[in-house]
Amino acid sequence: RTVARGPLGGAATVGGVDVRTLAEEFGTPAYILDEDDFRARARGWREAFGEDADVFYAGKAFLCRAVVRWLHEEGLNLDVCSGGELAVALSAGMPAERIAFHGNNKSAHELEQAVAAGVGRIVVDSFEEIARLAFIADEQGVRQKVLVRVTVGVEAHTHEFIATAHEDQKFGLSLSGGGAAEAVRRVLKLESLELVGIHSHIGSQIFDTAGFEVAARRVVGLLSEIRDEHGIQLPEIDLGGGLGIAYTSEDDPSEPTLIAKALFEIVRRECAAAGLRVPRLSVEPGRAIAGPTTFTLYEVGTVKHLDGLRTYVSVDGGMSDNIRTALYDAEYSVALVSRSSDAEPMLTRVVGKHCESGDIVVRDAFLPADLAPGDLIAVPATGAYCRSMASNYNHVLRPPVVAVREGRARVVVRRETEEDLLRLDIDC
Ligand code: LLP
Repeated sequence: RTVARGPLGGAATVGGVDVRTLAEEFGTPAYILDEDDFRARARGWREAFGEDADVFYAGKAFLCRAVVRWLHEEGLNLDVCSGGELAVALSAGMPAERIAFHGNNKSAHELEQAVAAGVGRIVVDSFEEIARLAFIADEQGVRQKVLVRVTVGVEAHTHEFIATAHEDQKFGLSLSGGGAAEAVRRVLKLESLELVGIHSHIGSQIFDTAGFEVAARRVVGLLSEIRDEHGIQLPEIDLGGGLGIAYTSEDDPSEPTLIAKALFEIVRRECAAAGLRVPRLSVEPGRAIAGPTTFTLYEVGTVKHLDGLRTYVSVDGGMSDNIRTALYDAEYSVALVSRSSDAEPMLTRVVGKHCESGDIVVRDAFLPADLAPGDLIAVPATGAYCRSMASNYNHVLRPPVVAVREGRARVVVRRETEEDLLRLDIDC
């Protein structure tokens, strides 16, 4: 949606601004974010889930203060997973009550910060953390609301590194192994903790809702066991995030309304079967909101034709602004966006400027054969897990995020400078 033209190019605009103007004004590489698109996606999730559910945007996908304000205005809550994300959220005015804090090894300091701020939900992930949090809440004289994160034992069909609900991984407490039931027992014994629900997150970039259905069924199963063992019904379940987006034309994501319908149906059905009241539902989409809203704008620096092999197009960024291709074998598309071209398509590999050959942005892509240094190319769908996973490898400066709306562009995260890098480097 964001990049207006097809794979072989044409001068593109975003939010009413020509990409060439953006390159001139803000330089390249740059993440260009369509603010209306971001807000519309956030609102779309909010509306799809309605009043009986909460949508927590997963800040790990991409977070900055402007994003926190948009989420607040559009009625979303926020999921954070570190003291850093929490600090950004609080500094931009997200009410602490609307924040949920995740993570498999939150530090004592992070837990203290979260409890002191009045964070609405802390999702506990281990026995140690239950004890640690209870102690901290007790010291602060607070009764902290918690959810227990469970491992539902679902094999999500996605890359191994981002699948999180099979048994052999680090997150959550096992349902089948009894860890989840034991965690519930422990939390219920602690005065400073108030158990409000169960949390499950099965993975990321998932297209098939079957995994969510199994997760929902098993989470409701646990609610029913808890009722039988303890005589209480927990009021909330959180089914996490993980809905996939289209990186290439082969990906076919579902609409939030269909996802909401499927999840509500299964939760209602399972609750009816178990004789439970329907709990309040939460979901945590990150990629599905942020991902499609942004493209990375690069300038072509060199075009190297390797006879009989392929053409390498080097851009002014690379694995430091998008590690996903190297890390997950992720697929992206690319388009020439600074001019149109009638030249034949040529098979290219778009690579970065880093000192290793795995520094690939787009593995296989057709670009016009007359592509030349100075052309601008755009890689769509880089709004999630690109800026948030960006690094300073080779002391390359992380690009800015430029938000465009109604013909106006403004920097919401500025480009790093060499002074930024040097500031961390202590001369001794
Ligand atoms: N909730 C929890 C507890 C999570 O761990 C995650 C993602 C989400 C929600 C949001 O998932 P999403 O809707 O964005 O798929 N760096 C990887 C993705 C890691 C996801 C980690 N957890 C990537 O670039 O694909």
